[in-house]
Order: sequence, then structure tokens, then C-alpha cells
Amino acid sequence: MTDTVRDHVRRPTRVVNTSVLRNDAREKLLGRTRYAGDLDVAGQLHARLVRSPVPSARIVAKDASAALAIPGVVAVLFGEDVPNNEIPTNTAGIKGRPLPPSWVLATDRVRYHGEPVALVVAANLRALAAGEAAVEVEYDLLPVVSDPERALEPDGPEVHEGGNLLSQWEIDRGDVDAAFADADVVVEGRYEAQVVDHAYLEPETGVGWLDDEGVINIRVSTQEIEHYRRIAHVVGLTDSKVRVQAPYLGGGFGGKEDMTVEPYIALAVQRTGRPVKMTWTRQESLTARAKRHPVRMSYRTAATADGRLLAHDIEVVSDAGAYPLLSGFVLLYITLNAAGPYRCDNVRVRSRAAYTNNTPGSAFRGFGGMQPVLGYEAQIDKVADATGRDRVEVRKRNAFTAGDRIPAGQRIDTAVWLPQCIDAVLERIGPRPEPSSPDHRVGLGLACNVQPYGRVAWMNDSASAWVGCERNGDVVVRCGVPDVGGGQVSSLAQIAAEVLHVPMDKVTVHFGDSARTPLAGRTTATRQLYMSGNAVLAAARVLRARLVEGVARGSGHAESALTLAEGGVITPDGVVPLAEVVMMCLANGVAINAMETYFAPTGPPVAQRIDAERIVPDFTFGAHAAYVEVDTRTGAVRPLRYVAAHDVGRAINPASVRGQIEGAVVQGLGYALSERIVYDEGVNLTGAFYQYAVPTAADCPEIEVVVLESGEGVGPFNARGIGEPPIGPCAATIASAIEDAVGVRPTTLPMLAERVRACIDERAQS
Ligand code: MOS
Repeated sequence: MTDTVRDHVRRPTRVVNTSVLRNDAREKLLGRTRYAGDLDVAGQLHARLVRSPVPSARIVAKDASAALAIPGVVAVLFGEDVPNNEIPTNTAGIKGRPLPPSWVLATDRVRYHGEPVALVVAANLRALAAGEAAVEVEYDLLPVVSDPERALEPDGPEVHEGGNLLSQWEIDRGDVDAAFADADVVVEGRYEAQVVDHAYLEPETGVGWLDDEGVINIRVSTQEIEHYRRIAHVVGLTDSKVRVQAPYLGGGFGGKEDMTVEPYIALAVQRTGRPVKMTWTRQESLTARAKRHPVRMSYRTAATADGRLLAHDIEVVSDAGAYPLLSGFVLLYITLNAAGPYRCDNVRVRSRAAYTNNTPGSAFRGFGGMQPVLGYEAQIDKVADATGRDRVEVRKRNAFTAGDRIPAGQRIDTAVWLPQCIDAVLERIGPRPEPSSPDHRVGLGLACNVQPYGRVAWMNDSASAWVGCERNGDVVVRCGVPDVGGGQVSSLAQIAAEVLHVPMDKVTVHFGDSARTPLAGRTTATRQLYMSGNAVLAAARVLRARLVEGVARGSGHAESALTLAEGGVITPDGVVPLAEVVMMCLANGVAINAMETYFAPTGPPVAQRIDAERIVPDFTFGAHAAYVEVDTRTGAVRPLRYVAAHDVGRAINPASVRGQIEGAVVQGLGYALSERIVYDEGVNLTGAFYQYAVPTAADCPEIEVVVLESGEGVGPFNARGIGEPPIGPCAATIASAIEDAVGVRPTTLPMLAERVRACIDERAQS
């Protein structure tokens, strides 16, 4: 970046870059945080969905009369009763083919197991359950397609009219065929990643009511309060007649990026005029809410004899499930990141996403930046092995540096501290532990990644924030950010406290309200600290200048003689406390608040072929290392020790950053070793937490986090985004460690004991 940026980071800070106690910490520790589902509204009704028990069928008959006859059942809605039943799709499709909408309630066709078909509203939970069971829906089964490659065959059963190709992207950089012809070494591999669920502890939940101005209010667990526009569309109201509030979330991870309970609550409130609560069961959440895309990736990679990457030829097939949701954008991220954090001048990527009758795929932490790590890190290891070079040396030789272009064309403007990350994890991982028996083997794994942060350039992203003073000198921040648990709100308080020279406990943040806090966009794409942080920084700076101006006008001193510092404005006559500064401003016509909007850099839309100067705002880089122990009798893999290092530019709150990285590693270990949603011809068989193996504390190794600060990022105080990036390298790190332990590398996730054992057996036979 520019010199100003570098200069800026050298300035000492007082609150930013320190691990202050987060302002959500105390209530969470005491179990007192009021999540969306913790609010009951007097007189509320309850709502529940009737969902399709089959993955593909025509609906031939629907009857609510038996349900409506049950005492306590207030209403039953079908798709025909919804003012606007079609939710327009917002993702990237293919040229000339409009994307199908999602339906609030399926009317004549269901395309996945668990698709909503009817909405039941009742006075109590007992009537609700009875009502749900009594709604009669008759299905005529249709062919099921559950495999994306089968779905793309010309005779594959059509999930949507016009064929099953949802989206495709291409990268064509350099001359790939010539590079392969000249290469000293060519290595190939196929990699496959599974469907996983976000598995947050807080299910999808919310409560809605009608207020005195006719506005439907919904207090809901969501990553995007700006869904109020979509909700208004569904119920046929103008945007300003829906208000969404997001209190602190008990986890989102992308699973609350699309709407969940919101349209149903709004419909039920509109129909009944009463407050309505809806909470999805864990089974509903696991069965029917959008998942991470499973992908199949094939890589061919060419290199020189000394381990320099010459070319990649990459093919990806992603299973988008039954509806588009965000699949086109996730596939864009898979394509964009397919070659990893390494320079490569000749790259061909062909990626396709297919409709199937599986649960729709959509956003999940990593958002397509994650799946290809499994591929590109295996390939770089193969290049090292084939050329007889060290895996670390090959990574460092090929690592991007600032000024390089990614295969999709964008130049990297900030520092790339990949070598520093690698050195940090290898230094901290320590000596190799002894195996626990002669049947066990210990291996060391290493993997790196790159993950963009911020939304794609043609989204024209912006975030607004308001910062003001109370009469007593307290500071108030208003910003429409949903806090998913990552400390988004507390970071904004830190930034305001830093700029305005007040202690943290003098700052209150009002957040997550589409009607009463300036809109800051969704908490996704690792964008919130970057975007709303920059907005708060800008607003706080304007306010700081105003406070000084007010004292200048009131005291007659030149502004240049005044400084805002801890305790108030320092003048040649002494310190004016902040409360008096505020009164001086008001007495002299100077505002004691400021609202600013931060605009991300923009760029033109990218069509199917990705080649652009500007696609994303910036990137975060990292490296992970781990020791695992493999039981060669069973194939069971146990992580022993784990170190993760990421360059975060500058940590606003180092403890929060560590929390993000540690949590991501645990989530990534689940992806690597145990988690999967299992389908049988489109029927989702994983409907309970006991069937879905999220790592427990007992499964987790000792995790050490190394926070590196290059001082280069495009967020406030040169921070980079860190919410999503640290989940990326986990699976590749574990695969590499297993290979080091037993000499064979699993290529299919999750790396279950039986699969690892099968790899060991195969190797023994060959
Ligand atoms: Mo996300 S996966 O951008 O919430």
C-alpha cells in the first residue's frame, strides 16, 4: 500500500491493538445474553413449517381443514396464500438463462427433502405440533438426482426447467498447454470435499410483531438485517414497513446469511395481527437449511525441475442442491482461489455448479475460498516431492509477493507475509511427539491459504455509522452491524474510544437495527470490521474535529493550539473536560455527532470469464502446522498439536483475533476429520446432533495461535479481515500430516478412520 498507510500503523494506540475486555463478554460469561429466541412478546402465537418428506415430487393435493379444526390452530398458509411467493435470486448464473427464484412455500413441486410447503400458526406449542401433523399434502414422486455429475449429463433428471447447470466460471491466464509441454514435472490429483453444516448452538429463531405505525418488526438471529427488503417483498409491503433487529447471535458462520425464519414470521404476523414466534428445531436446521457445497476438483500442475510452478489446469464440479441461493458467488470464490497463494502465470480453471435434489448449498465460513485449499496444497506438496525439493522451500519460492497478480488478474496491493506465517508455525510447532505405541505413527503437516475479505467489487459495497456525544461526554455509536459472536460491536467501540480518547466503558454501541441504526451491510464475507470499522473510524474523526472546533469557537484559541486527549480538550488555559466540550459545541453551533459512509473500491461486473483489475478489496494469508497421530490398525487420526498463524495487518483486539483463529481451527478440524451430512438419493439422513460429529473439547488438540501484523490491510488501522480465513488450511494441514505419518494422503473428506485405513491398505498392496 501507500506510505501513508505504513506511516499510520507506526503511530502508537491506546485502546486499539489491545485485548480490552469485550463489551459483550460479561453477559455471555454469565449466560445472561438475550439472544433472539430469549424474547417473548405478550400474546404471542407460535409458527412452524410443514416440510416435504421427500426430495423430489409434484404436489397433487393440499388440505388444511383437519389442521384448522384443531383447537388452538389459528392459521395455515400455503404458497397460494403468500402475497409474493417468489423470492428473487441474487447470485451469478449463466448468460441468457434467468435464475429460478426460491419459493417461500412450495406450491406444486418440491425439489429437496425438507422444503417448506405450509406454515402453521397456533396459540401454543401443543396445538402447533398437532396442526403440523394434520396438514395433508399429497405427493407424486418424481425422479431424484443426487449426484452433480449425473445431474449435468444430458439425460439427467431436470431439477429446474432448462437443465441443471446453475453457474460456470472460467479463468484463462497465459498459455497453459505450452507450459505443460515445456514442464519438467507434471503432477495430478483428484480431491473431494463433503457437505457440512454450520452447527451453531443457537438455532434459527425470531419473534415478530406489528407496531403502532403498521410496521412489521422482527427480532431475529440473522447475519443480515437488510433482508427487511426481501421480507417486505414477500408480504407485499413497501420496504419501510418492515424492521429487522438482530441482537447478539449464537453463531452464524454463513448459515444465517440467507433468510431463515424471517419471511414466515412476517407472514404469520400479517395474517393474524398478533405477535408470532418461530424457532426451528435442530432437525429442521440439519435437514433443510443451506449447507456448505460439496465439490469434486481435479488438478493437473506443471513445474520446473527446481520446483517453480508453471501451470495449473483445474476442473471443479460443485453440488448446488435444489435452489441457487448464493451458489454462483461461492463458485466464483472457488474459481478465484483455485490456485492458492502462489504465483502462477498459466492457469486454466473450469468450474461448474449443478442443481441436484440435495439440500441447497450456500454461504459457509470460507465461502468457496476454503474447498480448493485441499487441492492446491496437495498439488504443491506433489510438486515438491516430484522435484525432490523441500515442501517449505517450494512454498516460499512460489509464494505471492506484493505487486503480483492473481490468476484472475487483480494485483495484490498489500504485503504478503506467507513466508513469515510458515516460519512462525514451524518454529512454534516444536519437537515431534513420540507415538503412543508401535502401532501408531506421528506425522507433521503444513498448509497455507489465501482468502479474500470484503464483498466483490461490483456489489458497490458501503457501510454507514453514526458517532455522537451525550451531554455528559459519553460516546454513542450507532451502526447497523449484526454481531455474530466475532466481537464486531466491541471492535467498533474500541475504534471510537481510540479516536475520541475516551475509555471503553464510556462508549455504548447501538447495533443491528434496520430502522434505527445506519445500515452497514451484512456480517458476511469477512467484511464487517473492514467496512463498518472504516465507517466508524471516519465518523469518529469528523466528530473529533468538531469537538475541537467547538472549543476553538468557545475559547477563542486557534484550533491548532488545541488537542483532544484523554479527559478532554487540552487548551493553553488548561483542560476542558468532555462534558464541557459538548456544551461549548452546542453553544457555538457545532454538531456533537457525525455520520459517515465508507465505500469499498468498486469495479465492473465480471462475466463468466474472470479477468479483472479489481474483484475483491484485499486478501488475508496464513499458514497452519499440526502433528497428528495415526493408529495404523484402525486408521483413526488424532491431532496432537496445532499451530495457526495469520497476518491480520493489525489486530484491533488481539484476544478476539485469537478467538476467531482458534474457533476456526476447531471448526476446520471437524471438516477435516469427522463432520458430514449423509444423503440417500436426496434424503438427508443426518437429522440430529448425535449423528453429526462436531469436535468436542476432548477431540481438540492444544491449539496455538500466532498473530502476525504486517501493518498492511485495508481495514481501520490497517487491519485485515480474519473471520473466515483461518478455517481454510485445516483439512489440507491434517491430510499432509497423515501423509507424513503413514506415507499416503487421503484425498476425500472427511478423513474418517475407515477411509484412512483403506488408504493404508491400498498402499500396502501396491
Ligand atoms: Mo459468509 S460464509 O460470507 O457468512
